[in-house]
Order: sequence, then C-alpha cells, then structure tokens
Amino acid sequence: MSQIVYLNGQFLPIEQAHVSVLDRGFIFGDGVYEVIPVYSRHAFRLDEHLHRLEQSLAGLRLVNPYHLDEWKKLTRELITHNEAEDQSLYLQVTRGVAPRDHAFPENTTPTIFMMSNPLITPPSAQYEKGVAAISATDIRWDRCDIKAIALLPNVLLRQLSVDAGAAETVLFRNGILTEGSASNIFAVEKGVILAPPKDNHMLPGITYDVVLELAAAHNIPVNIGYFDEARIRAADELWITSSTKEVLAITTLDGKPIADAKPGPMFRRIHGWYQDYKNNVMRHAAN
Ligand code: PDD
Repeated sequence: MSQIVYLNGQFLPIEQAHVSVLDRGFIFGDGVYEVIPVYSRHAFRLDEHLHRLEQSLAGLRLVNPYHLDEWKKLTRELITHNEAEDQSLYLQVTRGVAPRDHAFPENTTPTIFMMSNPLITPPSAQYEKGVAAISATDIRWDRCDIKAIALLPNVLLRQLSVDAGAAETVLFRNGILTEGSASNIFAVEKGVILAPPKDNHMLPGITYDVVLELAAAHNIPVNIGYFDEARIRAADELWITSSTKEVLAITTLDGKPIADAKPGPMFRRIHGWYQDYKNNVMRHAAN
C-alpha cells in the first residue's frame, strides 16, 4: 500500500504529491514544520504542537491556514490512512509558490503538506546504556524558537555527531548550553535538574515541557538558567529530549564520561514517569 500524504486539501499517494520548484520552501526555506508523535493512533500533546505551529507561523508573519479543529480533523484522517499504530506526523506550511524574490509575495496561497511515517523510538539498549554525544559551537541564528524548515545549520551540526559515531551534537553558544541539533538538553547536578530557559536560542520542546511538568509533580527541584560548558561536563547526568527520542541519557560527551558513564538515577525516574504519563494519556484518549 502506498503511503498516503496530505497536500493542499487532498489526501493522495506520496508519488502523486508534487510541489512547484518555485515554492518558497524549496527556494528560500521559507516555511515552518512540526513533528508529532502518535501512540496507539492518538496524537500525543496535539494541542501543544498545534500551538507551537501557530507561534512559528506568527514568527514568519504567516496566517495560520487552518483553525485548530481543522488541523485536528486532518491529523486524525492522516493517521487513519497509515498502517502503523505508532506514527510520526510531519506537518509543514510554506509561504507558497511565487516568482523568486526575497520580499513577501502578495496574495500567495501557502503550501500545506502532511505525512506520516512509522514512529521509530530508540532501541531499548540505548535507554539502558545511554548514548554518546559530541559538542559543537551553536552556529545557528537568533530565532531558534521558530521551528523553521531552514535547517541547514542543524543538519551540518547533526552530521558532526554521525561522523563521530555519536547520537547527538550538544550545542554551546558563547560557552553556554543551548540545546541539541534536534533535541533539548537537560543536566542533573546534586539532585537538581538543570535546563536552559525557553528563549530565542532554543526550540521550546514539547517533551521539554512534559519533563518539567513531571519534575514539578514529583517535587524534583529544577534550576532554569544559563549553564556553561565546564558545569555541563561536570554534571552528574545529561539527557536528550525530543518527540522521537523521548528522554535518553547521554553517557559520554566528546569521548569523556559524564559521571560514571551510566544512565543515572534521575534519568531512570523521569524516563519511567514519562512512560507512565504517556500510557495514561493514551489510555484516557482511547476511552
Ligand atoms: N526536532 N530542539 C530542536 C532543534 C529540535 O529539532 C527538536 C525536535 C527539539 C525537541 O522538541 P520536541 O520535544 O517538541 O520534539 C528541540 C524534531 C523531532 C525533528 O526535527 O525531527
């Protein structure tokens, strides 16, 4: 069965979904996107993802082409068109098709694309043993809070870790932790969770919010702030969070161990609470 995608008002096989070469997404990377995990055919934290999409669109001065209810209806339909129980939904909106000119075109219709792929979460060995990460200077722009499709710096930064056989690239801007190339980063220091603030130098992660909510619910102290490289390298634990990786422990950074190079006790608690939370939400959604 061919993969069914959504393009500008139609569900159709992916082979038949075509976009003009003049689409501003293709020419300028002028668009935004979302990645939404689906568990047992229910989109996880859909309202939050659609709210972030709204914020990203506003960052590009694009009008949201659909109301919340329309987005929800379309995502539900896309899920039914695809076979996997757990899926990864991809939503993209670009400024549309227009003759190439940097300035915004007048009266252009946005291009709206959605696809679903089977959700691939890390293998259980990675949750048990943790993963290697490397670090790099954050070379991105000053609006990392927008989930823009223009991901060239992220792509180059991620490839550095691929080349090094590592799972993620941890980014430092002027020596201060921002996030990963495709994830948010947390640290743990003496029982306190450290996290960078949701400013313009990181993407406000949906998983990041879930982690902080779980910490609050279990009275775990959290320190939101700016943390320098030395402090991060000396932390007791380091984690990656994202919709597709969930919560994953980093056990080495640039080949050097984080503490004893094993996923720490706080990771195990948060990971467990995250799984419980996810299962509860999905059970509730199914009823
Ligand atoms: N990326 N920071 C960056 C730069 C990201 O690309 C992502 C996610 C996150 C985590 O956000 P969330 O918890 O909402 O997934 C943080 C997605 C998964 C991607 O681009 O594929």
